[in-house]
Amino acid sequence: MKIAIVGTGYVGLVSGACFAEVGADVTCVDVDKTKIDRLRRGEIPIYEPGLDALVTRNATEGRLHFTTSLADCIDDVELVFCAVGTPPGEDGSADLSYVEAVARNFGQLINRYCIFVTKSTVPVGTSRIVRTAIEEELRKRGVEIDFEVASNPEFLKEGAAIKDFMSPDRVVIGIESRRAQSVMERLYRPFLLNNFRVIFMDIPSAEMTKYAANAMLATRISFMNDIANLCELVGADAGMVRKGIGTDARIGTKFLYPGCGYGGSCFPKDVRALATTGRAHGYRMAIIEAVEEVNERQKEIVYRKLRSALGDLRGKKIAIWGLAFKPETDDMRCAPSVPVINRLLADGATVSVYDPVAADEARKVFGDTVTYACDMYDAAVDADAVALMTEWKQFRMPSWRVLAKSMNGNLIVDGRNIYEPAELREEGLRYMGIGR
Ligand SMILES: NC(=O)c1ccc[n+]([C@@H]2O[C@H](COP(=O)([O-])OP(=O)(O)OC[C@H]3O[C@@H](n4cnc5c(N)ncnc54)[C@H](O)[C@@H]3O)[C@@H](O)[C@H]2O)c1
Repeated sequence: MKIAIVGTGYVGLVSGACFAEVGADVTCVDVDKTKIDRLRRGEIPIYEPGLDALVTRNATEGRLHFTTSLADCIDDVELVFCAVGTPPGEDGSADLSYVEAVARNFGQLINRYCIFVTKSTVPVGTSRIVRTAIEEELRKRGVEIDFEVASNPEFLKEGAAIKDFMSPDRVVIGIESRRAQSVMERLYRPFLLNNFRVIFMDIPSAEMTKYAANAMLATRISFMNDIANLCELVGADAGMVRKGIGTDARIGTKFLYPGCGYGGSCFPKDVRALATTGRAHGYRMAIIEAVEEVNERQKEIVYRKLRSALGDLRGKKIAIWGLAFKPETDDMRCAPSVPVINRLLADGATVSVYDPVAADEARKVFGDTVTYACDMYDAAVDADAVALMTEWKQFRMPSWRVLAKSMNGNLIVDGRNIYEPAELREEGLRYMGIGR
């Protein structure tokens, strides 16, 4: 089965490589020529565990191709996936201009029945915009060609994207006809054979499912951060409370970790877009708006703790461990490290940072306003405080003895609650966590 995937970012590249891995012939299309040139040379433009080998194998075996033009493959493919970005617009709503551009390109090029499948996260009603754009382009060409639109939102997590794509909890597909359903069933047959659930539904429900899923997960994080902040005020331990409620099967343990707030390319923009959709329909999503408000506050909690413990930050050196919005990715989009570092710099502190993979992405954000250390201990030399922002595995068991000797001060702010306070205290270090 031949398919095209337009947009070769996290989602497009991972989906393309995974569909190729289960036997489809996939052409990945992107307007970014540098990205496509790199992929053709076998270089992977993003950090995602396992992606390198998957892309190389499928490209070498001839099932995965890269191009800057949909025209190169349009006559051969049954489906065109749209996996371009949907960043937040100024009012918080999803910017659909990239999706619409791909739809127009599809309308300009198709010569026979083809399905336009939206994989990007898009608000309910986008399928109408897509259909209209395609119809307009066909009308301009003076041709009548049968096409359909479908929705197939993506639930992969960066850092575990391949596993999530290959072993999904479920695949959600919005369709409007039996014909489109049978094409999508053929594409997902390898997954159905493995007994993964593929749920077919109408398109608006599929579009809404993606936002509802992300909003639910973000809600759990903000809820737990709110509880953690109160725990601190009343002398309870949020870690124990988390265990106490997470063991209730109705609640479960996932996405209940208090910390320095959620970031990334999805939760912040999707939560905001959902609230905007509500407002556009005259409905205030009160819970969703509070989820965002709590998160915005929480993203600066590490800064506030440093400030309260160290007082005037002028001339103080702060080491930041972890910059990416979560471990196993180099994605810096909406990472809580960014507002924290910006506040520290604005207060006159010097900042030394270390992240196992995100340094290059970080340079695009901070330039040379911070020092890029070569490892976690190097970052902490002469520091007045160390703040953990991303819980990479290599940060889990530092030698507190080495740190205590090389630091100027003794404060450790654990933005992800991964350390045992007693162990630090034994070495004369001062511990501050979240809600502990
Ligand atoms: N990143 C995630 O973890 C994740 C998970 C699930 C869903 N999503 C959703 O998937 C979509 C894509 O996200 P992403 O993180 O992969 O984005 P990304 O920014 O990593 O990639 C988007 C790609 O689309 C390309 N592009 C833009 N316009 C184009 C056009 N007209 N033709 C061809 N290529 C074009 C860009 O050059 C870029 O390479 C978003 O809607 C996002 O919300 C992302």
